[in-house]
Amino acid sequence: MADVVRNKDYTNLYTNGFSFKKVGFYNNKFCNWNKRIKHLEQVEFIRRYWSSDCYWCDFPIGSGRLADSFGSVNLVGMDISDGFIDFNRRRNRFCVKQDLFNPGGNWFGKFDLVTCMHTLFAFDDYMVIISNLIKLLNVDGVLVFDIPRTVDKEKLVVFFKDNNCELLEIKKHDFWDNPFFQCLRRNRFVDRVFWRLLLQYFYRFFPRFFVDIQRDMSDEYFCKFLVAVRRNS
Ligand SMILES: C[S@@+](CC[C@H](N)C(=O)[O-])C[C@H]1O[C@@H](n2cnc3c(N)ncnc32)[C@H](O)[C@@H]1O
Repeated sequence: MADVVRNKDYTNLYTNGFSFKKVGFYNNKFCNWNKRIKHLEQVEFIRRYWSSDCYWCDFPIGSGRLADSFGSVNLVGMDISDGFIDFNRRRNRFCVKQDLFNPGGNWFGKFDLVTCMHTLFAFDDYMVIISNLIKLLNVDGVLVFDIPRTVDKEKLVVFFKDNNCELLEIKKHDFWDNPFFQCLRRNRFVDRVFWRLLLQYFYRFFPRFFVDIQRDMSDEYFCKFLVAVRRNS
């Protein structure tokens, strides 16, 4: 694995001194209006491939925010961070310590659904991670992940074909969690009053409005992509 580029700083962020308090802080970030929209979009996308009896692996599980939305039945949470693993185990979730770059072979071919959210953007060599995640799928299993906007979509399709997979869906994602909106959030008044009201009332009652804006206004500069692929053999 010598040629693999591993962004160790990112992994260190979650492994060195990543206390229980920091786990809670991470979890609370998803209460912010724009991360909340991202979360809800991801949940809606995953729901198309999830069923209550599917054998699901969330890798990395982080604070378990996705499990909060789906429940933990038939879930195996994987992560490299002891802090996150401990946090999930206290919530009675089955979790194992695994490295995205070197997952244990005993888990290969086991899962109907594998999810990897909000992580690949941090690694230069994220294609290595994707091929490792594919190995965890059983035949007909589905992998769902988000990927940086810079990805070459055509190369991605070829990569999946080479790995006996079929691209099911690729969708613009994460428009609302972009640097422009992050700047607006620095102003406490704007953040607390305006955006929260927007999320709490407007998003709750008119979710289509947000979906339509994202579809029409977002370009590839602001977006990531949500991707679903199926393993064929
Ligand atoms: C931004 S969090 C995303 C967590 C979760 N997927 C979510 O969407 O909330 C990044 C996650 O990557 C995990 N991570 C970082 N490097 C890893 C590695 N080499 N192997 C496994 N997990 C890793 C961290 O522990 C953390 O849980």
